[in-house]
Amino acid sequence: LAGLGEGSGEKPAAALTGTQQVPLTILFGTHTGHSEALANQLAERARELGIDAEATVMEDYDVQELPDAVNLLVIVSTDGEGEPPLNALDFLEYLQGERCRELTGLNYAVLGLGDLSYKQYCQTGIDFDVALEGKGANRLLELVKCDVDYHEDARNWSDGVLEILKQQKGTVSDASVTASDSVTPAVVYDRQNPFKAKVLEKIKLSGRGSGKEVYHLELLLRDSGLTYEPGDTVGIFCDNPPELVEKVLEITGFDRNEQVTIKNGTHSLETALRHHLELSVLNRAVLESYRELTGNEILGDLLNDEQALDTYLYGHDVVDLLTDFLAELEIAGLVSVLTSLQPRMYSISSSQAAHPEELHLTVAAVRYDNHDRRRHGACSTFLSDRVEAGSEIPIFIEKNRNFKLPEQNEAPLIMVGAGTGIAPYRSFVQHRQKLKAKGDSWLFFGDRQFFTDFLYQAEWQKFLKKGSLGQLTVAFSRDQEEKLYVQHRMREHGRQLYEWLQRGAYFYVCGDKIHMAKDVHQTLLEIVATEGGMTPEKAEEYLKDLKKQRRYQLDVY
Ligand code: 2AM
Repeated sequence: LAGLGEGSGEKPAAALTGTQQVPLTILFGTHTGHSEALANQLAERARELGIDAEATVMEDYDVQELPDAVNLLVIVSTDGEGEPPLNALDFLEYLQGERCRELTGLNYAVLGLGDLSYKQYCQTGIDFDVALEGKGANRLLELVKCDVDYHEDARNWSDGVLEILKQQKGTVSDASVTASDSVTPAVVYDRQNPFKAKVLEKIKLSGRGSGKEVYHLELLLRDSGLTYEPGDTVGIFCDNPPELVEKVLEITGFDRNEQVTIKNGTHSLETALRHHLELSVLNRAVLESYRELTGNEILGDLLNDEQALDTYLYGHDVVDLLTDFLAELEIAGLVSVLTSLQPRMYSISSSQAAHPEELHLTVAAVRYDNHDRRRHGACSTFLSDRVEAGSEIPIFIEKNRNFKLPEQNEAPLIMVGAGTGIAPYRSFVQHRQKLKAKGDSWLFFGDRQFFTDFLYQAEWQKFLKKGSLGQLTVAFSRDQEEKLYVQHRMREHGRQLYEWLQRGAYFYVCGDKIHMAKDVHQTLLEIVATEGGMTPEKAEEYLKDLKKQRRYQLDVY
């Protein structure tokens, strides 16, 4: 339109220049189609006035565009007992929730359709009106509610809003078009100064009857200035499992209220044990200083036997140390032996391109029994048991240069993951979808049972449908007699897999290091040897070369 001056006597649509354009967003939520018809009629009338308008069903609306919207017209019906139509549900929830920023630059008007014979007459229209007001948006026109015979009321409402928009046409300026403002924080958040991120949502992914407990968490990064790329990790500061803290207090008999001084200050013993000292895992250094302090001989022997030490360190905690190597201790001694509670790192499962203000996590609760005592992973049970929507948790981002999407968006991806090892792939695929990247992709996912452990199943199916994910191959290990793992599936598809590698695919492995990653590597070697007609040595070289080209990347733990 640029270049066509106003008042050129042409049709109204051509009579507006870019800056004089009145931006208009019309969104509808409909059950039977009435709201849709009204929205389309309104869009048509607006276009006749030279306003570039289009009616969109709420479920197809990208909420990231909302901060830039200037005029929003909502036409929505109400279902049954005051419920929103299905295609309006998410958008309403979004407006009501914390994810949605202040919308002070937005003008709006709502038309509610309903049925007077229901008690909750036009409730959804009311809900939208209230939600938008709550975000500070500017109401252009009072909410209009209309009954089953809605035509006249709807017409009057449309006339009213179009009249206002026509008046705006003369006064629109550049300033009002760029309504969104972003805040540059003065502080830099990092490991030393973590950001307190609010938990927006926490959902259990694993189903009833699963042997595992897996959660999806969504954190709010607003105003943190934190940025991340697919493949990056988030560090989380947690507290210790309360059972473990109590057990330490119980077996030592120490007074929980006694003040102790540790690296980062003076606290009650209970607070220090709960928030500042590492209890759930041991390392060589802790055992060494404990031995020095107590002079325990048996512990000395253990420290001299590498293998026995490794075995001991695995699955034992501070309570084991205190009971297996009994010694006279004082509070100050105990506290001096223990190290600071360290943050735990998790692969991020969202893409910031797709969710600019959010960071998602996929966490499996670690719980097991050892020596007749229930053990709890500190951070995983912190997130599973002691954190809920609304909690604030201290986080920081850590770049992971060794697990990155290829720079070329066309490069094919082969992604192999078991259990929560699927996390970074959700980020990869989200990211590529947002970028409309052309590259092919293939996900191998393994877990225990189809019914209870198919993490993000519905999302993968959507990605497949949209073409953002090319292929999905799953291995559910416990759905049949014989164990079936991702590498078995890889072998079944060996020829195709090798073809993908030959045409430049990037190969990713995420999840268990000791078993899965090793077996996947072995299988990949066999596939390359078989399909490429290579000796085992050549196949080794082939994979080494892939690694050198950064086309074989691991995120394993
Ligand atoms: P299992 O526990 O039934 O043996 C995620 O934990 C998935 O990884 C589970 O299905 C688990 O199977 C599977 N898994 C265990 N060991 C594996 C291995 N060596 N290679 C690949 N997958 C493995």
